Amino acid sequence: MCGIVAYLGTREATPILIEGLKRLEYRGYDSAGIAVIANGTLEVARSIGRVANLEAALSDLPDTNATLGLAHTRWATHGGVTEMNAHPHQDDRHGIAVVHNGIIENYASLKKYLQEKGHTFQSETDTEVIAMLISELYAPDEGIDLEAAVQGALREVNGAYAIAVICQSEPDTLVCARKGSPLIVGVGRGEYIVASDPSAIVAHTTQAYALDDYNVVRLSRDNIRTSTLENVEVPPKVMQLEMELDQIELGAFEHYMLKEIHEQPARIRTTMRGRIDMKEGRIVLGGLAAFHKELVRAHRLILAAQGTALHAAMIGEYLFEDLARIPTECEYASEFRYRNPIIDEGTVIVAISQSGETADTLAALTEAKERGALSLGVINVVGSTIARETDAGVYLRVGPEIGVASTKAFTGQVTVLTMMAIYLARRRHMSAERCMTLLKELEAIPDKMASLVAQDSTVRGVVEKHVDRDNWLFLGRGYNYPTALEGALKLKEISYIHAEGMPAAEMKHGPIALIDDGMPVVVIATQGSQYDKVMINIEEVRARGGHVIAVATEGDPNIEGHADDVLFVPPCPECLSPMLTVIPLQLMAYHAALIRGHDVDKPRNLAKSVTVE
Ligand code: M6R
Repeated sequence: MCGIVAYLGTREATPILIEGLKRLEYRGYDSAGIAVIANGTLEVARSIGRVANLEAALSDLPDTNATLGLAHTRWATHGGVTEMNAHPHQDDRHGIAVVHNGIIENYASLKKYLQEKGHTFQSETDTEVIAMLISELYAPDEGIDLEAAVQGALREVNGAYAIAVICQSEPDTLVCARKGSPLIVGVGRGEYIVASDPSAIVAHTTQAYALDDYNVVRLSRDNIRTSTLENVEVPPKVMQLEMELDQIELGAFEHYMLKEIHEQPARIRTTMRGRIDMKEGRIVLGGLAAFHKELVRAHRLILAAQGTALHAAMIGEYLFEDLARIPTECEYASEFRYRNPIIDEGTVIVAISQSGETADTLAALTEAKERGALSLGVINVVGSTIARETDAGVYLRVGPEIGVASTKAFTGQVTVLTMMAIYLARRRHMSAERCMTLLKELEAIPDKMASLVAQDSTVRGVVEKHVDRDNWLFLGRGYNYPTALEGALKLKEISYIHAEGMPAAEMKHGPIALIDDGMPVVVIATQGSQYDKVMINIEEVRARGGHVIAVATEGDPNIEGHADDVLFVPPCPECLSPMLTVIPLQLMAYHAALIRGHDVDKPRNLAKSVTVE
C-alpha cells in the first residue's frame, strides 16, 4: 500500500529510483512521482497512473546526474487520484520533499494549525502536512537541521508512517523514519537504497538495516545515524535480505499471477521441507518449540486475517477442530477489536498474513496481546511487522508474492495450518497410525498440485464459454466452503465479474433467486462426507437453468452426468482437499481476467498489502 524508494550515493539516482518503483508498483499504482536534488535545486515530476507514465513525464526534468532522490508509487487514501495529490509532496518555503506510506490521523488539525501559520497547501492529502510541519520547524541557523525538524514533526503526528525526506539546502542528507509502516535501509558500497520492501533493494545489496517504530535515520555521504524521535541515538539493527533477484523476475511467464500459480508445487515442497518427520511420524515446527507446553494446553484458538488469508484461516478452523479438537474461531481481523473480545488464559491468537503488514490483522493481534493472549504468526515475509510482533510462528517459505491476487500464499497458509493442526493433534490425542497416514498424504500434495497446474488449457476452455456472464456463484461445503469463497474472491478481484461464494446449503435460503438460464455456478463436489448433499445442491441449480461447473475427484463415475463442465482433481483426504480444489479456481480467475483484457497483476483499485485500517 504505497511504495517508497530513496537513494543517496554516487550513481545517478533517477534510473535506480524508477527501477525501484517498478519493483514496488504492486503496492499501489494510482500515481507515481520522483524528486531529486540537482545542482542544489529540488526537481519534482509526478503523474497519475503507472510508473511508465512517470517515466514519460521525466523528460520534463532537466538532465541532472543527481545522486540524491526519492520516489513513490501511490494507493490513494486521502484525496483523489490526481497529479496534485501524487507524492512527493513539498513544503512552501525551503525546498523540502516528502514521500509517505501510511495515514496521518490528526492531519486535519495539523493542517489548520499550519494554515494559521501562513502555509499554503496544494493537495487534499494527509502527507502534505508532514512536509509543511517539517518546514515550519526547519531552522538550520538555530541548529534545527533536517533530521531535527523531522524528529520534531513526527512527535506531533498520530497515525502510521514510513517517510523519506530531502531538502535542497542539505544536498547530502536523506532522512527517513517509520512507525507502523515498513521501511528498510539497504546499505551498499558508498550508497544507500531505502525502500518499503526488499524487492527494490536486492538488485543493489543484500545488507540492510531494519528500523523500529519511531526510529529516524539520517543518511549522509559518510555516516549513518539512527535515533528516536527524542534524538536518543540507537544502534542500527543489521539484517541480511534473503530475497533472490530471480524470485522477483517474471522469467518465461506472462504474469506474476500465472508464475505464482505454477510455482505452487515447488513452493509447497519448501513449506514442508524439514517439517515432516516421516521416520518418527510427526510434525516438527521449530518456530513453535519455545511455546510447546502452552500450545498443547491451549483451550481456544482465534485465527485472525483478511481477504485470502481469512479464507485460509477458515480452513484452519475446520482443521484445528476436526484434527486437533481445539475450539477455534475465525475472525475478520478488522472486526476483532470492535466487539470487546473475551480472551482468557489458554487463548491463543494466530495472525495469518502473507505480507505481515496488513494493518487490520496487526490491530487484532495487538488487541489480543494486550488482553494477555499468546500470539502466533503464520506469515510469509520474514521480519515483517506482524512476524516481529508475535511471540512465535511458522513462516510460509513460498517466496515473494508479487501478483496482487494471492495464490501461492493461500496454499502456503493452508499447508502451514494443516501442519500446525497435525502437530497439536498428535500431541493431544491423534493416534500414531492416523498421523502417519495423514503425513504421507500431505507429502503427496505437491505432485498432485503439479498435475493440476498442467490443466491450464482445460480450465481456459471452460472459462471461455462463460466469460461474458456478469454474475457467478461458487458453492462448497465443509472444508471446501472457504475454497468457494476464495474462488469467488479471485474472480471478483481480477476479472471484475460479480461472484459470490457461499456454503452450498445456504444457496436455497435466498441466493437461489439469482439463478437464471445459463448462470455459471461453480460447485466443489469432491468425494467426501458431504458429496451426496452437494449433488442435491447441483440438481437444485440445474433445475433452475444454472450452468454447473463441477470441481470433482478423478474417477468419479457420476459427476459428468450431473454437471455441464467438470474439472477433475486427484483424490486425497477431505481435510487436505482445499490445497487442490483451489488451483482450478485460481486458473479460472486468471483466464477470465485475461480474456476480458484486464491487467491481471495489477487489478483496479487494489494494492498488494493493505497497510491502512
Ligand atoms: O498480506 P495479507 O495476507 O495480510 O493480505 C490480506 C489480504 O489483503 C489479501 O489476501 C487480499 O485479499 C488478496 N489481494 C486476495 O487475493
